[in-house]
Amino acid sequence: MKARAVVSVVGAAMAAGVLTVGTAGRRPAKDPRAAIFVTRGCAECHAIAALGVKATSDVGPDLTFAYADVPNRYGVGLGWFLENPRGLMGFVLAAHLHLTPADRDSMSHTLEAVYNERLADMDEDVPSSPPARGRPRARLVR
Ligand code: HEC
Repeated sequence: MKARAVVSVVGAAMAAGVLTVGTAGRRPAKDPRAAIFVTRGCAECHAIAALGVKATSDVGPDLTFAYADVPNRYGVGLGWFLENPRGLMGFVLAAHLHLTPADRDSMSHTLEAVYNERLADMDEDVPSSPPARGRPRARLVR
């Protein structure tokens, strides 16, 4: 019952398209690694600020830090989570989006790389990778 209520709220938000993304702050130019998240429908609900992905409706959390967030919140690695999603994502991935093993691999590798790049950007002593791309320095989002 509770899950159903959440899902219908999400559905309503998506249908109405009213929950648009805040555009405050600088965003990096769109990264080619963003494409898979957009074509697989993730950007309907998730922004990925580090890749320049804006969400149609910000129903889910920004995935920039998902690589570290998922183990913290769910106690499993990101690759495992995408294969065995919890909570609302379980519903979304089972009923709505279908990912191949290659999709999941690519997504978890990209999010791992994005996370590490962001960490490097936040610490002046750690060289960012790829180096010297002239990215704006990371702000902590939310
Ligand atoms: C219909 C909206 C919707 C779509 C589409 C969607 N998600 Fe989600 N996702 C959510 C919500 C809401 C949460 C928060 C889950 C919760 O708290 O139960 C979430 C959580 C997550 C998390 C955990 C994030 C964290 O920081 O804890 C990951 C990773 C994730 N989604 C990946 C994806 C990927 C990859 C796709 C595309 C294949 C996708 N999601 C598509 C709504 C969506």
